[in-house]
Amino acid sequence: MSALLITNISSLIGTHPQNTLMLRGKQMQELPAVDNAWILCEDGKIADFGTMDNLPAQLPNALHTHNAKGGFVFSSWCDSHTHIVFAAPREEEFVMKIDGKSYEEIAAAGGGILNSARKLQLASEEELYESAAIRLNDMIRQGTGAVEIKSGYGLSTDSELKMLRVVRRLKENFPIPVKASFLAAHAYPAEYKNDHAGYLKLITEVMLPRVAEEGLADYMDAFCEQGFFSVEDTDRLLTEAARYGLKPKIHANQLSISGGVQVGVKHHAVSVDHLEVTDDAVIESLQSGNTIATLLPSCSFYINIPFANARGLMNADVPVAVASDYNPGSTPSGNMNLVVSLACIKLRMRPEEAINAATLNGAAALEMSGQTGSIAKGKMANLFITRKMPSLAFLPYSFGQSQIETIVLNGKIS
Ligand code: NIG
Ligand code: FE
Repeated sequence: MSALLITNISSLIGTHPQNTLMLRGKQMQELPAVDNAWILCEDGKIADFGTMDNLPAQLPNALHTHNAKGGFVFSSWCDSHTHIVFAAPREEEFVMKIDGKSYEEIAAAGGGILNSARKLQLASEEELYESAAIRLNDMIRQGTGAVEIKSGYGLSTDSELKMLRVVRRLKENFPIPVKASFLAAHAYPAEYKNDHAGYLKLITEVMLPRVAEEGLADYMDAFCEQGFFSVEDTDRLLTEAARYGLKPKIHANQLSISGGVQVGVKHHAVSVDHLEVTDDAVIESLQSGNTIATLLPSCSFYINIPFANARGLMNADVPVAVASDYNPGSTPSGNMNLVVSLACIKLRMRPEEAINAATLNGAAALEMSGQTGSIAKGKMANLFITRKMPSLAFLPYSFGQSQIETIVLNGKIS
């Protein structure tokens, strides 16, 4: 049995009440903290915390003590939307973008998702695992302590299963929770360009049963967008996925008012992600249920598309999360520190709101907020310790720089 006591914490951030599992709109302004604190981790969990003038008299045997020396301690980032299994980067498209080509033009010129799919089909499971593991390690070093990973660059039965098996291996081998989403409905493969019904049939009648049989996915995803999957396609896919117990987490309203948000809400999606383009009807549709609006500001930044209306969503009491969208095309970065900075700078979220969006609401978007995402007794001890900082706002203020000095996973310094 191992125990870790972290002392001299200038501020222990995110000490939400144990039963707070998701924050809606205005609640996101509250980020409770304990100043001049200690935290005790036992058996991988948060056992207790308090103020330095009140250190526990009885401490476990075999205790390791770590002096935070005035740094802040946060619950790790929960990155609820990534595509980190891919065969090759796409930096040639980066240059096309500099030359003024749009995301749609690059896709039409043979780039985009189909480009990644061609490369992934040729890669072995081993190669995919090795490169995804490097990315996941980098993300962990940058403070991520729970993650969702999608398929969607396979676009054939074998390659989609290959991707999801890679995600399963990451789940097995990494010390953080990993959730998998099945995203065969990411783009119509070239051979189904004129046979959309055929591809939908392949997904629903061949792939989904295999994915379910092997228990390879936690969620069903679809890219509901003009030129990709229509509302009707998405509706059908989500209906079929429900038969296999897969809840939706979908891509919606990235490039246009696609109807994706409403179809997601209709199917009680755990989250609808992107939402760069919204109108009043979109916001209204999210007001009553528990579907989380997951915003991806580093995607907007990287491909120069509008930033989501975070303030409008929060004013309407919608729960908002932020995530990285790490993928080779629209967001080649999994740095959640940058995501939190961009949430402040470009989504105009206050530091407290952005941090809640990247921790507790991110955990809720992984359906894991009972286990992680805040500092509460019994939750996983996945934490990061910063350098000494003058204030909470210093973290997102120092954009592009990491303040993280130490990572704690399952109660162990790693
Ligand atoms: O979330 N929008 C769809 N999928 C990814 C981008 C995929 C790609 O360009 O490879 C996204 O931005
Ligand atoms: Fe995405």
